[in-house]
Amino acid sequence: MRTLTKLAWLLPGLFAIDSASARVLMPLDEPALARAGAAAEPPLPELLSETGLYADASVLQIDPAHFEFSPQYPLWSDGVHKQRWISLPAGGVIDASDPDAWVFPIGTRLWKQFSLAGRRLETRYSERLPDGRWRFVAYVWNAEGTAARLAPEFGSRIAHAQAPGGSYVVPSRYDCLACHAGALAPVLGFSALQLSSDRDPLAPHADAVDAAALDLPALLARGLVVNLPNDLQTQPPRIESDDPLQRAALGYLHGNCGHCHHQGEDAVPVKLELAHSLSADRDPKAALRSLVEQARYRPRGWVGEARLLVPGDADASVMLHRMRSREPNSQMPPLGTQRIDAEALALIERWIAQATPTATQGAPE
Ligand code: HEC
Ligand code: HEC
Repeated sequence: MRTLTKLAWLLPGLFAIDSASARVLMPLDEPALARAGAAAEPPLPELLSETGLYADASVLQIDPAHFEFSPQYPLWSDGVHKQRWISLPAGGVIDASDPDAWVFPIGTRLWKQFSLAGRRLETRYSERLPDGRWRFVAYVWNAEGTAARLAPEFGSRIAHAQAPGGSYVVPSRYDCLACHAGALAPVLGFSALQLSSDRDPLAPHADAVDAAALDLPALLARGLVVNLPNDLQTQPPRIESDDPLQRAALGYLHGNCGHCHHQGEDAVPVKLELAHSLSADRDPKAALRSLVEQARYRPRGWVGEARLLVPGDADASVMLHRMRSREPNSQMPPLGTQRIDAEALALIERWIAQATPTATQGAPE
C-alpha cells in the first residue's frame, strides 16, 4: 500500500503519457491510454519463451544473437544471483549523446534473470514498444524450471527455503516503474558508467567479467553505441573521487539509489543526488554536497541534529540509518529488498568513518 501511495508523487506523469519522449512511462490502464491518444499496447506474451530470449525454447538455450552484460555497480537484491541480456533490433543503434540517459532504438529488449541456490525464480523483461513507450513485466518460473509464465500485475511470491522469511517476492509492475520510469533513463544497468572498461575493483557484488564481456569499448567498436561525447570515448567513464573507498561508495549509491535520487525532474522530492552524472557540465561533487544536507525526514526517535551524512560519524548519519533499516517506513531503498546489504554497509561505514568534512563537501567554491 505504501508503495502505491508513494507512486502518486514518485510518478506524477504516470497518467499523461508522452509518446514522443524516450523517458516515457508505461500506461497504467486503457482509459489513460485512450485519453493520451496512444496506440493500444501489443499484447503481452504469456510465456517468457515468447519474448524471444531463447534460440531453442525446449532446452532454454539463450539466443546467441543477444548480448550478456554485467553492470559494474549492480543492484542489491538480497543476494540472489542475476544474469542480464540485451537484444537490439537489426540495424538499431543506441544514441549516447546524453551520456547519462541513453536512448535505445524501438524494439530493444532486455532481460534479467534471478536465481537462488541454482533454481530460477523469475526473469524480468523490459522492451521499447513501436510507439516509443517502455513496458516492464516479470515472468515466474515453475518449480521444475522448464517454463516461466507472466507474473500477475501485482506481483507474487515464490516459496524458497533460502529466501528471506521462506518466500521470494516478485515485484508488481508498479514497483518496476517506481525504479525504472522515474530514472534519468528507463534502462538502468546498461549505461556508459555501468559498462565502463575502467571497472571499480571495490564495487560490492560485481561479477567478475571476462575479456569477451560486452563493455563500452566493445559497443563503440561494433558501432552499436553512437554519439558518445569524445572525452568519454578516449577516457573510460569513472567516478571522480578522492580515494578508492569513496569511489566505490558513490558507485554503490549510484547503482542502488540513483534511479530515484537524481538531478532530473522525475526524481523523488528530497534534496539528494546520488546518481553520478557523466555530462560535461556536471558538478562532480554533487552527490557529496547533497549528502551533507540536513535530513528532511527525521527518523522516529532520532535525538539531536539529523544530517544525511556526518563525516567521521557513521551512527549520526541518517543515510546509513535508513540503509540499515528494513522497517517499511524507514528502509532505503524502499523496494526490492528484505535483507540489509551487510557488505555494502560495511563499505559505506568505513567510508563515512574516514571521511573528512572537506572531502565530503568538495573543494571550496
Ligand atoms: C528497487 C528498484 C528496482 C525495481 C523495483 C525493479 N528494478 Fe529492474 N533494475 C533496477 C536496477 C538498478 C537495474 C540495473 C542494475 C542491475 O541489474 O543490477 C535493473 C535492471 C533491470 C533489467 C536489465 C536492464 C536494465 O534496465 O539494466 C531489467 C530487464 C529490469 N530491471 C526489469 C525490471 C522489471 C520488469 C521490474 C518489475 C517486475 C523491475 N525491473 C523492478 C532497479 C529496479
Ligand atoms: C524507489 C525509489 C527509491 C530508491 C531506490 C531509494 N530511495 Fe531514498 N527515498 C525515496 C523516497 C520516496 C523518499 C522520501 C520518503 C521517505 O523519506 O521515505 C526517500 C528518502 C530518502 C532519505 C531521506 C532524505 C531526507 O532528506 O530526509 C534518504 C537518506 C534516502 N532516501 C537514502 C536512500 C539511499 C541511500 C538509497 C539507496 C541505498 C535510496 N534512498 C534509494 C525513494 C527511493
